[in-house]
Amino acid sequence: MNIGVFDSGLGGLTIFRAFLEHLPTYNYVYLGDNARVPYGNRSPEIIYRFTKEALNFLFKKNCQLVVIACNSSTAAALKKIQHNYLPKYYPGRKVLGIIKPVVESLEEYQSLKKISRVGVVGTTATVNSKAFVRQIKKAMPRVHVYQQACPLLVPFIEEGIHKDNRALRLVLKNYLNSLTKKKIEALILGCTHYELLKKEIQKIVGRKVQILTEGKIAAEKLKEYLSLQKELEKKLEKKKKVSYFLTDEEPNYKRLMKLFLKSHSSNIKVQLAEIDNV
Ligand code: DGL
Repeated sequence: MNIGVFDSGLGGLTIFRAFLEHLPTYNYVYLGDNARVPYGNRSPEIIYRFTKEALNFLFKKNCQLVVIACNSSTAAALKKIQHNYLPKYYPGRKVLGIIKPVVESLEEYQSLKKISRVGVVGTTATVNSKAFVRQIKKAMPRVHVYQQACPLLVPFIEEGIHKDNRALRLVLKNYLNSLTKKKIEALILGCTHYELLKKEIQKIVGRKVQILTEGKIAAEKLKEYLSLQKELEKKLEKKKKVSYFLTDEEPNYKRLMKLFLKSHSSNIKVQLAEIDNV
């Protein structure tokens, strides 16, 4: 059986790239719902529906385990997926999100450095859900969490603007100002795309702020998870077969795949996914 990776579009390839680098032996199916991206400014109800549809597609592609790489989808839908949808329709299959691994990694950092002020940036859906705040507070009750929604960043990045650009810097400064004022000591980049902005963000928040990006953390936590879930791990095929499904072959998809997958983007075949309503 396969490992599925789902994102609202192509940004999730930043996470997937880390899986290919750190866990290269497994068979993967990547699904990007780029016909309906962005999810980040949609309602939780719609995000839940889209997420169910995507999971249904991936389960039919023989995925035993699906990692939701999309923060907006994890934030708005994961709980309901795990508590309602899976037990009813796909008992035995597993769905993991992207928020828990990052919060666990923050906890490791916090126990070393004793920080108490953390910032989170993400889409409007992620920030409104307060999923990061809840999980950080649960793990580290004394830590103060400050959030900032940054809805303009995904369009900037998808336009290829992620460094050395005055307009981008202005927008970033504007968004990050509320967090730097709070004297944050660590900052979670809680969106698939933001990893590409790490250097620009670091310049603004200063070198002392620890920035957590998601790809490598998610890959390491998945490795840990698989080493504990022996029964599940045994079911996974290890033939390095990777399939890419998108819901739209729109004019930019090849450029975006290259942007996010970097060296892993050569010689890949994309198939069009037909997603059923559920
Ligand atoms: N993948 C989304 C996330 O990580 C960003 C793009 C979108 O808004 O759909 O939140």
